Amino acid sequence: MTHCVMVGASYDPAVRTLTLGVPRERAPREKRVAIVPGVVAKLKELGFEVVVESGAGEAAGYGDDSYRDVGATIASASDGPYREGAASAYGCDVVVKVMPFEHDELAKLREGATTISLLYPARNPELVKALAARGVTAIALDKIPRITRAQKMDVLSSMANLAGYRAVLEAAAAFQGFFGAQVTAAGTERPARILVIGAGVAGLAAIAAGRALGAEVRAFDVRAAAKEQVESLGGKFLTVELDESGEGAGGYAKSMSKEFIEAEMALFRAQAKEVDVIVTTALVPGAKAPILVGDDVVACLKPGSVVVDLAAEQGGNCSLTKPGEAVVHEGVTILGYTDLPSRMAATSSRFFAGNVLALLSDMARAPAGGEAGFRVDLEDEVVRAATLTHGGQELPPPPPPEPSPPAPKKDAPTIAKKPEPKPESAGAIVFGILMAVAFTLVAFYAPDAFVQRFTVFILACFVGWQVVWAVAPALHTPLMSVTNAVSGIVLVGGLLQAAPGGSSLAVILGLCALLVATINVAGGFFVTDRMLGMFKKGGPR
Ligand code: NAI
Repeated sequence: MTHCVMVGASYDPAVRTLTLGVPRERAPREKRVAIVPGVVAKLKELGFEVVVESGAGEAAGYGDDSYRDVGATIASASDGPYREGAASAYGCDVVVKVMPFEHDELAKLREGATTISLLYPARNPELVKALAARGVTAIALDKIPRITRAQKMDVLSSMANLAGYRAVLEAAAAFQGFFGAQVTAAGTERPARILVIGAGVAGLAAIAAGRALGAEVRAFDVRAAAKEQVESLGGKFLTVELDESGEGAGGYAKSMSKEFIEAEMALFRAQAKEVDVIVTTALVPGAKAPILVGDDVVACLKPGSVVVDLAAEQGGNCSLTKPGEAVVHEGVTILGYTDLPSRMAATSSRFFAGNVLALLSDMARAPAGGEAGFRVDLEDEVVRAATLTHGGQELPPPPPPEPSPPAPKKDAPTIAKKPEPKPESAGAIVFGILMAVAFTLVAFYAPDAFVQRFTVFILACFVGWQVVWAVAPALHTPLMSVTNAVSGIVLVGGLLQAAPGGSSLAVILGLCALLVATINVAGGFFVTDRMLGMFKKGGPR
């Protein structure tokens, strides 16, 4: 396989094995590692030689030996700036980290290298400038667009999923009670009530975790599309009496009006009197997190309640949050932990590495008519959106994705259309006309006794047809019981008609009625028996 690094639109002709470096994370309390041993073999298949800084995976439970065993090279920590030929995780062609690079790490990078990490450019504009000045191609994993093709590379969603789950576990640990209902000899406990604000990736994971622990969960989101997802997880979706759509670009929310936020806060004040735990995850990309749980909402919570603020890093959704800390305010615990995925470092590192592998595999795909090999293809929508610096320059942001169309409202006014005649109603008209003609002929020419019975027959046909066709499929079982009862009457009528002494036509018709009604009754019992069997252990017999 040929390995070449594409610079803009031209190829660097260097054909050699590329190196991929995994430095140790520097941020305090960061236990994750960007690449786990489980993906090293696949990286080798893509043509990378993997160089891991000694101890990089230790905190996540991946020791140096576990990397060595799968063929990675362990390099000692590199203190000084980049030196040609020195074995260092920083000196590789591609350097992968979880957290943004720190300024003192940049000198260790090789000019022309590609870095892959979280970058949060809105919060770190100086770092982006410094990466451009260092001449590296910086790929920000937090800028991977939320489009279907890029789902497998979406680090933010993987981490938010873990964070939502962990938030509920942290809340459960801080809450001095059960989450699920308890019936014990010492008394009964109702299930804890959790309010989740923001039903995105983290919010939905929190709802699922809360429900799994037996809690009663309610959730609120500005996007109408979230309702169905909340309900499918067993949560109750809350609404406010204000019509404003929160759907923004790329599946994210948009900032809401002041009136809407006030209406939300009034809802949360009322909810706070009932709930035991609030998990906040409300996020509008590029904006400061909206304050939705103000001091007044916290004041409505019972002592012992817990607020977990996942948006702590963006300023917090709760006015009393201290990022990275747990504070207790008048008996209410407010958790502002910003390292929730890192608290599950082994799993979050695995997810992170899986996302990076998906990105690298995609970048190494063979272009039409070309050879497979890692390249930074700025024509690629995903790579372009995530690449912040290239060729010594900061790249301008790509055009934002189109906003997704708002979900149609159930009660939205629609233009009334003239109903198209249904094929069944056309059939009914033809049937009606034929019956009317037949009835008129019979009324004129047949004996009185026959006309009387024929009238009953026609009416029975019509009523039966209307009843059977109008019954919803869900009610077919009770309908079957009714038809069985009707068949009983038909049986009696058939027996009377088939009795000796009548005309031969009446006997034949009576026998036909007996046969049809018997089939219906016997078939009804058979089908009912099968259905009852489904409710018994072992399924239908
Ligand atoms: P997301 O964008 O999928 O979900 C955010 C949700 O908030 C969206 O559904 C949006 O419609 C909703 N929202 C926005 N404004 C709202 C408002 N005014 N009222 C109610 N809902 C509103 O984001 P994701 O990935 O679920 O992340 C959620 C938060 O969790 C982010 O702030 C993220 O940074 C944070 N996070 C925190 C971690 C930690 O360790 N503390 C780790 C990972 C993520």
